[in-house]
Amino acid sequence: MASKSKIQYVCTDCGAESIKWVGKCPSCGAWGTMKEFVVSKIPRQQSSTSTPFSISENKPLKLSEIDVQQEPRIDTHNTEFNRVLGGGLVQGSMVLIGGEPGIGKSTLVLQVVLALKDKRTLYVSGEESARQLKLRAERLNIQNENCFILSETSIENIFDHIQSVQPELVIIDSIQTIYTDKAESSPGSITQIRECSSSILRYAKQSNVPVLVIGHITKDGNIAGPKILEHIVDTVLQFEGDQHYSYRILRATKNRFGSTSELGIFEMRQDGLREVTNPSEMLLSEEHEGLSGVAITAAIEGIRPFLIEIQSLVSSAVYGTPQRSATGFDTRRLNMLLAVLEKRMGFKLSQKDVFINVAGGMKINDPASDLATMAAVLSSNFDMPIEGRVAMTGEVGLSGEIRPVGRIEQRIAEAEKLGFHTMLIPKGNSKSLSFQPKHMRIIPVNKVEDAFRILFKKD
Ligand code: TYD
Ligand code: MG
Repeated sequence: MASKSKIQYVCTDCGAESIKWVGKCPSCGAWGTMKEFVVSKIPRQQSSTSTPFSISENKPLKLSEIDVQQEPRIDTHNTEFNRVLGGGLVQGSMVLIGGEPGIGKSTLVLQVVLALKDKRTLYVSGEESARQLKLRAERLNIQNENCFILSETSIENIFDHIQSVQPELVIIDSIQTIYTDKAESSPGSITQIRECSSSILRYAKQSNVPVLVIGHITKDGNIAGPKILEHIVDTVLQFEGDQHYSYRILRATKNRFGSTSELGIFEMRQDGLREVTNPSEMLLSEEHEGLSGVAITAAIEGIRPFLIEIQSLVSSAVYGTPQRSATGFDTRRLNMLLAVLEKRMGFKLSQKDVFINVAGGMKINDPASDLATMAAVLSSNFDMPIEGRVAMTGEVGLSGEIRPVGRIEQRIAEAEKLGFHTMLIPKGNSKSLSFQPKHMRIIPVNKVEDAFRILFKKD
């Protein structure tokens, strides 16, 4: 059947369509986002037969008639990956993995499929040749006779191969390289991404086979392509990390089958990604005993407690305006904490450069790290080291009061597990503690002055 082509305008933000150009998207209200696309119009009957997902079999059911079996999940044999997915891959789900180029998305996914030895898997790559994938698999050093590799970019051909291989898990690397004949624009364009991802979604739902789709990220950290891509998939995972560090964090930003507060941590090695089951190991550097400017915070990121080393360097400003710079910590929050030190406690820091660095390339958002950040600054300022086995937690208010923090028990338990002998906690938390650690001394503190008196006391 001959198909007609027509010009259409699609919003790059929300994927809304319009037959004429408009400056402002009528759907999401964004300005200047409508882009022109040539679409081949497929008659409705044809498009519904070409997609085997049949609507007619579905009928409205009463809630009581619906089977509430647990979603069957595939164990990926990768603890961190399972954790972020909410306990494994759900059958028939479509999972999008986003991340900057070179961060290790292909490595992660290839490692997952190679480890699934009892499942037939199909890895479709539009980026690398089968030979390159073989070399990568050799580097990972995992043998798997059930994993099929396909280097292909046409979605129609991919579906043909899926028909013949009949895989139990499909990988598409990446959505931006795949195209369909139905749309005339080039791969990676909004229409292509939208068309391809909706047919992948239909395939997943109809065949009950899970599909992992890799997506690139734009400069501002969003998954390239229309926002609609994030709306249609079941789960969006972000793979992040600093290129200069070997640690990588996988977090769910959307998950229809689990929580979005879980984190998975990996280390990139010569032979692939290693799961980091004890994350504090990477965040505490070995030798900081006796060094000034280092304080350890018990922070919670996602739902896991971490003991993280905060490093600070305070030096006299050479030029007129002192510099304040922070890596892994919010600079505005740092300025606020420095103002509290200056105004409430009379420490003269206004003529000093202050640098903050969070060890391991981690970013902390937990305000409970305030106390350790201030302690690190003072420790560097006076060149007085803090004892290495002392951890602390507490949010600092504008008048220098230490405010209670959430999930204090988890923080204490993690610090005790890692062998800390003393921990400073907010007084407000100490009254309601449900347990007392056996091997660690807990010191409740009410004001930053109290904390500093304990940390910097001279014997
Ligand atoms: P890759 O998975 O290709 O990233 P993406 O798919 O997100 O673009 O990973 C690329 C980087 O990872 C590359 O710079 C090399 C490095 N790497 C290792 O350090 N060890 C390994 O075992 C592998 C396979 C890659
Ligand atoms: Mg890749």
